[in-house]
Amino acid sequence: MVLARMHTRLRSFLLALVVVCLLMWGLSQMRETAPGSVQPQAEPAPNVEHPEAENPEDPHNEPAEYHPQKTEIVYDIEGHIKFWRQFQPLLAAHAPKCPSPVRVYNAPSIGFKAKDPEKRPELLEMPAADVAKMREAHTQFVNSISNDPPRLSYISGTRGIVSTAGGSYLPVLVISLRMLRKTGSMLPVEVFLADNSEYEPYICDVVLPFLNARCIVLSRVLDNIRGIEKIQKYQFKPFAMLFSSFEEILFLDADSFPLVEPDVLFTTSPFVNDSMVTWPDFWASSASPMYYEIASREVPPMDLRQSTESGEIVISKRTHLKTLLLCTYYNYWGPSHYYRLLSQGAAGEGDKETFVAAAEAVGEPFYQVSEPIRAIGHPTEGGMAGSAMVQFDPAEDFALTQKEEWRVAGSHAPSPRPFFVHANYPKFNPATIFTEQEVNPPFNDDGSYTRAWTIPEDTIPQLNEIEREYWREIMWTACELETRFQSWEGLTGICDGVRDYWNALFA
Ligand SMILES: *[C@@H]1O[C@H](CO)[C@@H](O)[C@H](O)[C@H]1NC(C)=O
Repeated sequence: MVLARMHTRLRSFLLALVVVCLLMWGLSQMRETAPGSVQPQAEPAPNVEHPEAENPEDPHNEPAEYHPQKTEIVYDIEGHIKFWRQFQPLLAAHAPKCPSPVRVYNAPSIGFKAKDPEKRPELLEMPAADVAKMREAHTQFVNSISNDPPRLSYISGTRGIVSTAGGSYLPVLVISLRMLRKTGSMLPVEVFLADNSEYEPYICDVVLPFLNARCIVLSRVLDNIRGIEKIQKYQFKPFAMLFSSFEEILFLDADSFPLVEPDVLFTTSPFVNDSMVTWPDFWASSASPMYYEIASREVPPMDLRQSTESGEIVISKRTHLKTLLLCTYYNYWGPSHYYRLLSQGAAGEGDKETFVAAAEAVGEPFYQVSEPIRAIGHPTEGGMAGSAMVQFDPAEDFALTQKEEWRVAGSHAPSPRPFFVHANYPKFNPATIFTEQEVNPPFNDDGSYTRAWTIPEDTIPQLNEIEREYWREIMWTACELETRFQSWEGLTGICDGVRDYWNALFA
């Protein structure tokens, strides 16, 4: 009894303490001006130097409109489970009823050429009877989603950002979210995790809400159907889109962030025209002619457009239901059949080609940016240590291509502005970025520090010192959350490592 009462008292006391801390935090928030110094912690935070004070010249120094707020959207898990119970049986019923295509050898990754393109590779072996079976299954699946589509669950009129993370991707995602908020965007964010083991309470319940983001555990929806093959992480992207709350989605990889407030993507051409926008990869298409036979389509010419880099996608669930459902079919049957058919082993084989392929197969419109993706990095003996890729503004690209100005085919019109940086290789995770890797963004060949992004010389100035801003957020995350991420447990010196680098290059 006494124990129980003490418990109750202790609980009330703790509750009061939490409320007081939250209030104090709230007040300190209102006084904060610099977006780089938001501290979602109820307890005293370790001392981080705020470099902006040292550099009054910094254009990013002005107070930003930055009002983190909780999203009002209630996640409709029942609605999503209901949809999944209708949809999963369709995926299963129209399985490709044949063995996987055999890959003779991997397609080379050939750069896209708008003039004199290479021949389309054909490196798969598959008996004609199997191609016919897959075509039959594909046709029937498309018929079933056209005639009697399952009802997607989303909230009409909403827009938001969707991403996937978990484990060592979670610190990278937090850094990207802080970059997103620097642009002034208030769009809500839904972050999909694989299962409960990836749910990190401090990050999901304290850090993300102040960035207007929340965690959603995919297995809580998917596992309502038993006995199905486990869906792997690299198949997650269309599932995260399907099970998000928003009608209009910007999907962003955890290591991708915008340089510009991305809200404009939804309100300008080409999205207002086509309701789906994708960005290009470096490479030419390497889809197999057999894929087009299966999808009952003409084989397109190789100079039509680049292959797709799917780190960023904008799509409306209202207008592109069939695209999303067929794309999910391609990913559900991706590891066994469709990834191979769509890439034949070229660089980045996976979900990347499934979005555009699905839109084309069901005849829904889309716009793929034509401005070529650009690798950025720093010089090494062998050439360039490329660690990130720049993607460009679709509205400015669209304005050019409407005038038949195709820079990808040699037009000298001025470049659209950079819109996203996808810092994909290696991950800028402060716990691992200073360890020896295949590509070492912070180090020269001789082991001395360097800025990660110094070339190409024409692209770097367009990025407006974004690298410095990025490292500022990397440092914030390393120092404020050093003891918070599951994947950093037992590691020390994460903050010190970044601070040392910052002081050497940016202070
Ligand atoms: C795109 O949509 C806008 C707004 O609806 C319209 O003014 C414009 O003509 C459209 N452009 C094309 C190429 O469809």
